[in-house]
Amino acid sequence: MRVLISQQDLERRVAELAREVDRDYAGSDRLVCVGVLKGSVFFMVDLLKRLTVPLAIDFFQTASYGANTSPGEVRIKKDIDLSIRGKDVLLIEDIVDTGWTLRTILDLLRFRGARSVKLCALLDKAAAREMEVRIDYCGFKIDKLFVVGYGLDFDERYRNLPYIAVLDEGPADVPSPS
Ligand code: IMP
Ligand code: MG
Repeated sequence: MRVLISQQDLERRVAELAREVDRDYAGSDRLVCVGVLKGSVFFMVDLLKRLTVPLAIDFFQTASYGANTSPGEVRIKKDIDLSIRGKDVLLIEDIVDTGWTLRTILDLLRFRGARSVKLCALLDKAAAREMEVRIDYCGFKIDKLFVVGYGLDFDERYRNLPYIAVLDEGPADVPSPS
């Protein structure tokens, strides 16, 4: 396992994204931030703690067939609780890989009558894309690698690492935070 994005780089970039989001939604009194469980949680908390605009939070949980595969059929395991009709929705995701998960959720949010829908994703694995997805706020573009940490898992492990690491041959030594 090797560190791809350090804790300091994550903090710096999340702060930059927060400033952009805060500025863009400054006039909105109806922002709803929707996270996709479970991977987006660390990113979402760090981002939202830095916002000053009034906002509500909610969560989706999705599943695709197979532990870490994305064959295109996305199921909603947990729907949001709030009505988003007429709201400004900011969808928050850990990583856009094939794009199937986000495509499905973005279409659903628009169908339900949100006033605006934007996407904030920490990581963009563009080389893996199968469905076109517009990322309004993107943290980092990464190569087609399997990454863990800062919310991202391999078989539910490594989510709590404070950095993003590349998992090469499977569970080896976990580097200590730098
Ligand atoms: P998509 O539908 O293919 O874009 O898949 C998105 C979901 O797959 C993400 O929300 C992650 O949960 C998972 N995923 C995709 N790539 C990775 C990775 O490199 N590490 C961990 N999870 C990943
Ligand atoms: Mg996810």
